[in-house]
Amino acid sequence: MSNYHLQNFADYLESYKKSIDSPEEFWADIATNHFIWQKKWDQVLNWDFKKPEINWFIGAKLNITENCIDRHLAENGKKTAILFEPNDPSESSQSITYEELAIRVNQVAKVLRAKGIEKGDRVCIYLPMIPELAISVLACARIGAIHSVVFAGFSAMALASRINDSSCKMVITSDGSFRGTKIVDLKGIVDEALTHTPSVQSVLVVKRTGSEIGWVAKRDFWLHTLIETASASCLPAIMDAEDPLFILYTSGSTGQPKGMVHTTAGYMVYTAYTFKNVFQYQGNDIFWCTADIGWITGHSYGVYGPLLNGATTVMFEGIPSHPDYSRFWQIIDKHKVTQFYTAPTAIRALAKEDLSYVLPYHLKSLKVLGTVGEPINDEAWYWYNDHIGKGNCPIVDTWWQTETGGILISPLPGITETIPTYATLPLPGVQPVLMNEQGEEIKEIQADGRLCLKFPWPSIARTIWGNHERYRETYFSTFNNLYFTGDGALRDQNGNYRITGRVDDIIIVSGHNLGTAPIEDAVNEHPLVAESAIVGFPHAVKGFALYGFITLKDENANQEALFNEINQFITNQIGAIAKLDKMQFTSGLPKTRSGKIMRRILLKIACNELDSLGDITTLLNPEVVEEIIQNRLT
Ligand code: WTA
Repeated sequence: MSNYHLQNFADYLESYKKSIDSPEEFWADIATNHFIWQKKWDQVLNWDFKKPEINWFIGAKLNITENCIDRHLAENGKKTAILFEPNDPSESSQSITYEELAIRVNQVAKVLRAKGIEKGDRVCIYLPMIPELAISVLACARIGAIHSVVFAGFSAMALASRINDSSCKMVITSDGSFRGTKIVDLKGIVDEALTHTPSVQSVLVVKRTGSEIGWVAKRDFWLHTLIETASASCLPAIMDAEDPLFILYTSGSTGQPKGMVHTTAGYMVYTAYTFKNVFQYQGNDIFWCTADIGWITGHSYGVYGPLLNGATTVMFEGIPSHPDYSRFWQIIDKHKVTQFYTAPTAIRALAKEDLSYVLPYHLKSLKVLGTVGEPINDEAWYWYNDHIGKGNCPIVDTWWQTETGGILISPLPGITETIPTYATLPLPGVQPVLMNEQGEEIKEIQADGRLCLKFPWPSIARTIWGNHERYRETYFSTFNNLYFTGDGALRDQNGNYRITGRVDDIIIVSGHNLGTAPIEDAVNEHPLVAESAIVGFPHAVKGFALYGFITLKDENANQEALFNEINQFITNQIGAIAKLDKMQFTSGLPKTRSGKIMRRILLKIACNELDSLGDITTLLNPEVVEEIIQNRLT
């Protein structure tokens, strides 16, 4: 049996057993046979969840881009690495072969070096979904710079705080981005952000929209001009297995977003292995992950996982509704996509539209469908299965997190059973446990509890940039000696997992994780707002949407105007993705006697679960609950 490619259920069982009985041997075998190392490791694993400290492939030396690009050149240089589909369907798509990718990555790497970027420096990438985004990511990795991609839907303030958190030396952006019929002024957003970011020395600008933009001499440079004189070869920096590869920010329950740090070797081995198996990628398959590279899904399964396997990966610049709701299906037929990976929120949004947007398309090339980012409901699962997969494509409901780097729980298509709404079984190397609220492991097979992992897998994030204590506190302090995911889960009698959702103050809106605290901070910035509490309520397309309970300093204020103004504050501080769907202005918020806002009660009211409010008599102000219920927005 090849450990790397699981081909049947017996392979899965055998690999799973081996990965638990002798994890070091299991991962060493995979790492040895499928990657290029400049130097092998001295020790496979060293870990301690208490500190926490996790190291994989200790002492090994490598460069991930040699594994993503160089090693495919001899046999597959002419194969398409990136298939770019622009926002405007009348603009031609672009095929970038592995040979061309090597040249373009090396050129940008040379430009970065010429602009003073050295190994270990942080580079912020704020770009639309154009090939230069993937190329910039790889160029950073080529020279050992740490990339920090910020999703180009975040506001100037959100961008500035991420740049400052990791003191980025450079920003790579574009003159603008095309989204449907809109042009977004990305460079303008960067210019605004950079008025608050002392660490940034230079900005590289990709020309995409041709828009008029502001320019700061000696700081801003057109990338295409610098590339003209850049050499097409660039020796890869030799990295230590545990050198950081990238930082990616994710929302926390409180405070600033967390800069999750992923390191080189473990991330490489795990994303390559899971890409191969979860999608069963073969030969000349065309893989398409719709996630933006600004999120972990785009990092691991839009760029690194596919390229590590010499695959063809589709990159789509636009949105599913432009020019109309058939765009995804059009692209699948046009490029003969074999594996399609998207989010439940996109499926729900498309399922709500007329079936006539789907019916004209054959979708015959498809073999595997995937979902990620939030629980998928039954209805969406069946629509995806029946209308897109035509009953012939297994759906891999993949559960994982920014922090986990790669997929941890998922069916293997054609190998393990799929069950609607279940992420099903752990992949080899993954040891889930369910814990009760008393902090004990639930031993019964059929159970409902908090999902934890009791053993490290190679791509677990190693720390939070600049704040190791927060890393310990967030993930390793709730349960003794376990990594706590923040998710609740059910386990059925056969050991299949169904993720039920977050059990903390993170709300997943349209597949994006949002912490309530920063949104409340933004709302409270409005001069007329006294206090606020944000909760999530179920939404047919977004999964969850945001409901704000807000008390005002002046009860006579114009509430309609406030709705827009407060959402504008949120858009400025965070981005439009965090806007509130509902705002209820109230005379007070329910509080405990010690003055803590009782979000649990507000959550029940927003979700219309009035029967289970619990005891409110011990509150400081029980009368306000009655008022809120009376005026609740449905
Ligand atoms: C949720 C995305 C149910 C979960 C890769 C997790 C899911 C959070 C699934 C991480 C799934 C992700 N079923 N819930 N298949 N996949 N989640 O960091 O709550 O953006 O903790 O990573 O999304 O979101 P993140």
